Amino acid sequence: MLAALEALLAAARLEIPQAGDREAAEALRVRYLGRKGELQALLRGMGSVPAPERPAAGAAVNAARDEIEALIREAIARGERAALERELRGAPLDVTLPGRRLAPRGRRHPVSQAQDDIVEIFARMGYEVAEGPEVELDYYNFEALNMPAGHPARDMQDTFYVEAKGREGIAPGNPPLLRTHTSPVQVRSMLARQPPLRICSPGRVYRRDDDPTHSPMFHQVELLCVDRGISFAHLQGTLEAFIQAFFGKGFQTRFRPSYFPFVEPGAEVDITCTLCGGKGCRTCKGTGFLEVLGAGMVHPKVLAAVGYDPEELSGFAFGAGIDRLAMLRSGVDDLRLFFENDLRFLETA
Ligand code: DAH
Repeated sequence: MLAALEALLAAARLEIPQAGDREAAEALRVRYLGRKGELQALLRGMGSVPAPERPAAGAAVNAARDEIEALIREAIARGERAALERELRGAPLDVTLPGRRLAPRGRRHPVSQAQDDIVEIFARMGYEVAEGPEVELDYYNFEALNMPAGHPARDMQDTFYVEAKGREGIAPGNPPLLRTHTSPVQVRSMLARQPPLRICSPGRVYRRDDDPTHSPMFHQVELLCVDRGISFAHLQGTLEAFIQAFFGKGFQTRFRPSYFPFVEPGAEVDITCTLCGGKGCRTCKGTGFLEVLGAGMVHPKVLAAVGYDPEELSGFAFGAGIDRLAMLRSGVDDLRLFFENDLRFLETA
């Protein structure tokens, strides 16, 4: 046994210092010291050593293991030093080279940012998001909003109709169309639920329009609040709070009487001009105000159309162009920039 141990040590002393790198040294550790290694094989022969000689044999095995372990540690350290040498002698690092450009990072589109901000502001006031279809029926887009066929207000919104030929279930007089505003979501929400109702409905709308301030597709947000005892003052307070949260303190609202078939009374709402701060400039035509949205008290006929009792309930609503709000907030003057998706614009907007 002792002779075999000596032979093993001699082989190890010869072989291990020749290991060229870390991997080779690790392989030798497994071969000599591993669970199925050579030292372990020798230990299994311990049983045949006469009892009086066993303590000495055990000590010899331990000493051999320590020595082999030390040899391997050295071999590993040598291998690592050699690897470092090789790396340092290789291609030098040129710290004067210009850095590599990072891949461009995406960011939220300014219209999406504006929409998220608006939804968040109203969520804080207790409004929940409601969505409706973009391919809408005439009934929800016009009829139930107090705009029956032939109503002149329909001309205000030049409509894209959807080809309905050959489709089942389309009632005459109720053709599908691309919704011209988000107001139909008011009707859908009121039909689906009972008051009190507080909904905020952002989304895409479509009109046959295309010039620097109009795009055939644009975004609106509709707000609707219905309960007992809702008054025009609630509308004013809500809008004032919204405008200040969206544009900043110091922005004021101004209500001008106006007409929309689905509200009574109706109003157009202006805000302090975002360009001149109210002093008067070309953009606000010297008035210090810019028109931003339409609003009013939900018309009794609209409440009645969804089965609500106008004697008992009242509500306010408004509809605003999200793209326009985003333009005013960021000082962009051509709406089409938002939809051309030129990265040079989007990176700075
Ligand atoms: N739907 C109108 C439009 O697109 C905007 C509007 C006006 C919405 C008054 C309303 C409202 O809810 O009360 O022109």
